[in-house]
Amino acid sequence: MKYNGKVVIVTGAGRGIGRCVAAEFASQGAKVILAEKDAAKGTEAGRRIVSGGGDAFFIRTDVSIPGEVAAMVRQTSEKYGRIDILVNNAGFGIWKSPLDLSPEEWDEVINTNLRGTFLCTREAARIMKEQGGGSVINIASTRAFMSEPGSEAYAASKGGVVALTHALAASLAQYQIRVNCISPGWIETGDYDSLRAEDHSQHFSGRVGRPEDIARACLFLGSEGNEFINGENIIIDGGMTRRMIYAQ
Ligand SMILES: NC(=O)c1ccc[n+]([C@@H]2O[C@H](COP(=O)([O-])OP(=O)(O)OC[C@H]3O[C@@H](n4cnc5c(N)ncnc54)[C@H](O)[C@@H]3O)[C@@H](O)[C@H]2O)c1
Repeated sequence: MKYNGKVVIVTGAGRGIGRCVAAEFASQGAKVILAEKDAAKGTEAGRRIVSGGGDAFFIRTDVSIPGEVAAMVRQTSEKYGRIDILVNNAGFGIWKSPLDLSPEEWDEVINTNLRGTFLCTREAARIMKEQGGGSVINIASTRAFMSEPGSEAYAASKGGVVALTHALAASLAQYQIRVNCISPGWIETGDYDSLRAEDHSQHFSGRVGRPEDIARACLFLGSEGNEFINGENIIIDGGMTRRMIYAQ
């Protein structure tokens, strides 16, 4: 129980990677706050952790809205008295040609993925500063570094998250707050069994990623003793960004 008594906020914890990260921290003894905008998903994810013997608390939060983020962090600190780890996981993409992408769609993606990461970190860091330190883990994407067509807003938001990570690490170091980032590749959050053989085989690792692959890295980055890892981005993608691809 490496995280016994630690207080961990995971945004976007209602499904997929965030739900798994929250469950893994809880399984190690952490008190986990699930900050999620979908009330049904957040409630269910919290219920699952609690029914398995873990400590979880759902707070409905849209990370792009400053007032909701401030209220979530205030509620967390009032309930638990501290915040040890923040995992900025909430995110989504809109996939369409840049010729058709509206300014509203652009803003929606940037405001969730990038502004949400800033807002949550700003509020949590104020508590972490008072208690003498903490750890922030941002979830970016390999799409910060490479692209398919039609991913402009998402790629820009995730590139922003990588840059925001080292900027925050520089600013918050004086308060013993570490800020790191994970860039996942393809992490299947749906039906893993429906994937094709070629989906797996194109990865150096011979398989598509699972949420647990990212959750384990979050536990690693958040753990005491790893404070020398700071301002870093860790790519977890089965080797896909190292694979050179030219048309045959
Ligand atoms: N799955 C992948 O292959 C992959 C790859 C690279 C990066 N990522 C990143 O990992 C993170 C999680 O991805 P996922 O695949 O688990 O996504 P997902 O869509 O399965 O889950 C995302 C969760 O975040 C919630 N959410 C969305 N907007 C929110 C907001 N404004 N406020 C609060 N909660 C919000 C959703 O309701 C949902 O429960 C995202 O940041 C995503 O960009 C995922």
